[in-house]
Amino acid sequence: MNVVQEENARLRWVTLNSTEATVDEGATIIQGLQQTPKTLPCQYFYDDRGSQLFEQICDLPEYYPTRTEQAILETYAPEIAQLTGACELVELGSGSSRKTRLLLEAYSQANEHLQYCPIDVSAGILKTTALELLRQYPKLKLCGLAGTYEQALDQLPPAEMENRMLIFLGSTIGNLNQRECDRFLKQVQTALKPGEFFLLGVDLQKDPAILEAAYNDAQGVTAAFNLNILSHLNWRFQSNFDLDRFKHWAFYNPVDHQIEMHLRSLETQTVALKTLGFDTTLQAGESIHTEISRKFHLPTLVETLETFALQPLQVWTDPNHWFGLLLCQRQCISDECP
Ligand code: AVI
Repeated sequence: MNVVQEENARLRWVTLNSTEATVDEGATIIQGLQQTPKTLPCQYFYDDRGSQLFEQICDLPEYYPTRTEQAILETYAPEIAQLTGACELVELGSGSSRKTRLLLEAYSQANEHLQYCPIDVSAGILKTTALELLRQYPKLKLCGLAGTYEQALDQLPPAEMENRMLIFLGSTIGNLNQRECDRFLKQVQTALKPGEFFLLGVDLQKDPAILEAAYNDAQGVTAAFNLNILSHLNWRFQSNFDLDRFKHWAFYNPVDHQIEMHLRSLETQTVALKTLGFDTTLQAGESIHTEISRKFHLPTLVETLETFALQPLQVWTDPNHWFGLLLCQRQCISDECP
């Protein structure tokens, strides 16, 4: 077997079936633009350009979450591997897997078998990363899943190892509202069997000035990321949003403990989404709400996780307590265990 054949033998792709939630083809866009205030689903940030802009955001001096979580993982990845013992790693929203490499390193040092299932909506980034990782880790077996978290959690292939750890980093859970978050945690509870693990990274409440700076960077990358949602709609649904007629607006809402991102219309305008057969009129100053990024209070989050039978075993933070990493273990419920 040559090197490529050997790497391919360690690689498996799982195709996920579309579910009702994913075949929506724009229905949620129409629904959101008919609401007051108008909203757009934040998943539409991530076309190829949006994913690249997000990677750039992660390296911005103002955007502390990525490097803070990375530093926590650098310190504690070996401890995590020791606490869970050998297990299959399943990552939701893996992207370039840049932080997960720290876990792969720790698990490959601690165990004989290394099994990783990255899950991402972007099949492109998934493939590139998979090939890099197979080259980097000779004992790695990889099973890639292209799809959304909802699809993946509903259709996880049977585990190849005795135990599994679901990984959800970067505080992406903060982009879900309370109802979506509860639904997500319920799915995690169902996907794991008692004794298995859930590793969750969350951004914590802090001085609003630090938060607002992180979403209003000096180079304007976050503004470009926010506006890119309109470019994405333009090519996907043949719409005619003129990006020059909108302005990025991000602020901290201290009541709901969340950053809110909006796009403010600079003038009264009507936009057509041709493929969807839908027009919408915006008044001057009216805004479209594009994203929430919730900031968590650790004790409250621990209580929430416990209600979904996810018991935090260990919580790590950085010296400033800006970011939290929680290792949870799925508990038995009702008659699951003797
Ligand atoms: C992906 N997610 C956790 C990022 C966040 O911070 O909420 C998305 C983002 N939006 C603006 N900057 C980064």
